[in-house]
Amino acid sequence: MDFKTDVLCIGAGYVGGPTMAVIADRCPHVKVTVVDVNAARIAAWNSDDLPIYEPGLDEVVRRARGRNLFFTTDVQAGIKAADIIFVSVNTPTKTFGEGAGRAADLQYWEKTAREILACADRDKIVVEKSTLPVRTAEAMERILNNNTRGLRFDVLSNPEFLAEGTAVADLENPDRVLVGSHETPEGLRARKAVVDIYTTWVPRERVIESNLWSSELTKLTANAFLAQRISSINSISALCERTEADVDQVAYAIGTDSRIGSRFLKASVGFGGSCFKKDILNLVYIAETYGLHEVAEYWESVVRMNEWQQTRFVRNMLANMFNTVAGKRIALLGFAFKADTGDTRESAAISVTRQLLADHARVVITDPKALDNARRDCAGFEGDLTFEPDPYRAAAGAHAIAVLTEWRLYKTLDYGRILDGMEKPAFIFDGRNILDHRTLFEMGFNVFPIGKRPLKHF
Ligand code: NAD
Ligand code: UGA
Repeated sequence: MDFKTDVLCIGAGYVGGPTMAVIADRCPHVKVTVVDVNAARIAAWNSDDLPIYEPGLDEVVRRARGRNLFFTTDVQAGIKAADIIFVSVNTPTKTFGEGAGRAADLQYWEKTAREILACADRDKIVVEKSTLPVRTAEAMERILNNNTRGLRFDVLSNPEFLAEGTAVADLENPDRVLVGSHETPEGLRARKAVVDIYTTWVPRERVIESNLWSSELTKLTANAFLAQRISSINSISALCERTEADVDQVAYAIGTDSRIGSRFLKASVGFGGSCFKKDILNLVYIAETYGLHEVAEYWESVVRMNEWQQTRFVRNMLANMFNTVAGKRIALLGFAFKADTGDTRESAAISVTRQLLADHARVVITDPKALDNARRDCAGFEGDLTFEPDPYRAAAGAHAIAVLTEWRLYKTLDYGRILDGMEKPAFIFDGRNILDHRTLFEMGFNVFPIGKRPLKHF
């Protein structure tokens, strides 16, 4: 079959895989190839057991795979054939050298640029899909356009705003799609080629166009604002616990102000996920490199507040369990950084587990989707740590259970049965405020929500 456009995506991860699957599903006239150096990941994309869990993704992939969606490790052939190349490789926080712990590690991104340059035999549009520091495109253009073969590369920015667990819905019905380019005739032509793909299914008014630097900076800013809302409400949750105010009531009441809005005001044990912390620290680093120290400090406090909330959660457990958890079995309900994903990157559960083990608790972790990742995350941890798929078995013999992920499953467990099998007094620490606290208290549990008065029998 003849396709109108040949699109390549380098990087078959949480972003590249679902994004390209939806593009292929919605644009049968576009041939979409996704490449990755990780052969196991590509094999999984070609199997019935996809490498990531996302509701609805199996169906989308099944419809398009083999028709106009292809997964392969042949990066070179993919580059040669492509008109438009999306680059969706990982951009983690640098762990070494200048900027370690803050700056983005751009080695994978730059390597990709050099591969594109080595394999291309005609002009290409290169699209930044990864989240990158503002003005990265400048460096990419220097590398790509510094060639003696007369090849021209137009670099665009098209950041991805999908959230894990709702990736397919976010891609099929996005609040907006952002495409940034140079505002030159060539840049605008390249921009149109990418805009045309999205407007196949996204309403035109939801496709925002901007200059390159605005687009790059928007992505970091969006994540910083989202995370800032969580840290803000978490800071208020601590105050609620001291004053008998109820954080859910406060969040609801402020959220009805249309200027504030109701979303992303759910107090929790702390935000996790692969991007919020990394992107804010990257913003902090960028601000510092421009000498904007107050700006850097302001955003860094969002990460500090999140770390404090995780520590505060465990301190609260300790304080209420008579200042010792040594030798006590504690069941952690949920390890994923949020519900509906198996992803555990930067999950608050990692820090909670580490702290509890340091206090010699016997920790048992349960999660419906994330136990394999949990095992990997905790591989080097010392102490009494076990993994148990069945939440009832996890809670059996425990002194306390702590809800760390808001899986729907945990709302509907038979807590009477759980209480019967627990040591007494039995404690529940609800790090997501998803349980019916009054009913649990009346059953006999001592209940410690986030940002609300505890309900205890002593
Ligand atoms: P990921 O680690 O899941 O996937 C990246 C993939 O790129 C890996 O499979 C890796 O093997 C591959 N890769 C690296 N170098 C390569 C190369 N030279 N050639 C071919 N493949 C290569 O990462 P992700 O979560 O998909 O994130 C990718 C980018 O998107 C990051 O910049 C991230 O900040 C951003 N982002 C992520 C999310 C999310 O929900 N995870 C959402 C929006 C934006
Ligand atoms: C987030 C953004 O929502 C996406 O727009 C963005 O594309 C993505 O980061 C990225 O760049 O990687 P994601 O991390 O997948 O998406 O998930 P979120 O729904 O944002 O949740 C992040 C964390 O915040 C989770 O741990 C979640 O439980 C927590 N959270 C979220 C709260 O504690 N309270 C809330 O009110 C909302």
